[in-house]
Amino acid sequence: MSQQPAPRQGPIRRIAGDWHVIPGWLPVPDLGVLPVNAFLLAGPEPMLVDTGLAALSDAFVAALAARIDPADLRYIWLSHTDADHIGNLDRILDLAPNARVVTNFLGAGKMQLLGKGDPARLHLLQPGEVFEVGGHRLHQVRPPYYDAPETMGFFDPVDRAYFAADAFGALLPAEAASVDEIAAETLRDGLVGWSSVDAPWLAHMDQPTLGRMLSGLERLAPEHLLSGHLPDARGLAPLTSVIRHAYARGTTDAVPPETIRQIETLLTRS
Ligand SMILES: [Fe+2]
Ligand SMILES: [Fe+2]
Repeated sequence: MSQQPAPRQGPIRRIAGDWHVIPGWLPVPDLGVLPVNAFLLAGPEPMLVDTGLAALSDAFVAALAARIDPADLRYIWLSHTDADHIGNLDRILDLAPNARVVTNFLGAGKMQLLGKGDPARLHLLQPGEVFEVGGHRLHQVRPPYYDAPETMGFFDPVDRAYFAADAFGALLPAEAASVDEIAAETLRDGLVGWSSVDAPWLAHMDQPTLGRMLSGLERLAPEHLLSGHLPDARGLAPLTSVIRHAYARGTTDAVPPETIRQIETLLTRS
């Protein structure tokens, strides 16, 4: 049996203002790679957004430690409880004794079921509550598609950054630092492929409703998109346009079912 290529951790990199990406790459046999990103809000109250892949634990901690002392972390914003987002949660909590996990009621319940995190170190957010951290006011904005109901995205008006969790992820033929390096057709195929894996219910969604959700996001006019599964992207319009048109007929068959099962298995194991 042939050896599966290993995931790879990239170095931490500043995106804008206090925001940094900690980029990981998960190879998907026959399809390419899936970016698996966490983010760091540096500053007076450092906050990590998601915790990377468990398979990259040492490299992930080293990448984080290249920018801050992990012990200084005050918060860990958890987008949702999938394995590719909580991979190093317990290790980071050990390294950061003053950090609290920012999540919602459902996220807290699912963490408990999974035996992850520490119930005594939660910072529970109410629906719609604005979270203030290090001079930033993070407004909860639910991503237009997701694979877990506890998913929490946010918009930071200070740096005009929108964190979309799994939304706007893309399966790519090769690693890239920015979407500017990716040909339009390749990006389109990658976005549609990932969205049909991550949110197959998009194919059953009323198209005008999806269009209104995407338009609402466009009105926020974020300058920087922080996606768990996409390289750096400036502006949303090229991405929302792809999703809007891909599901215009209410269905897509971009990715065959056996490929979807293959990716689900990879993500569960990572
Ligand atoms: Fe997910
Ligand atoms: Fe994910």
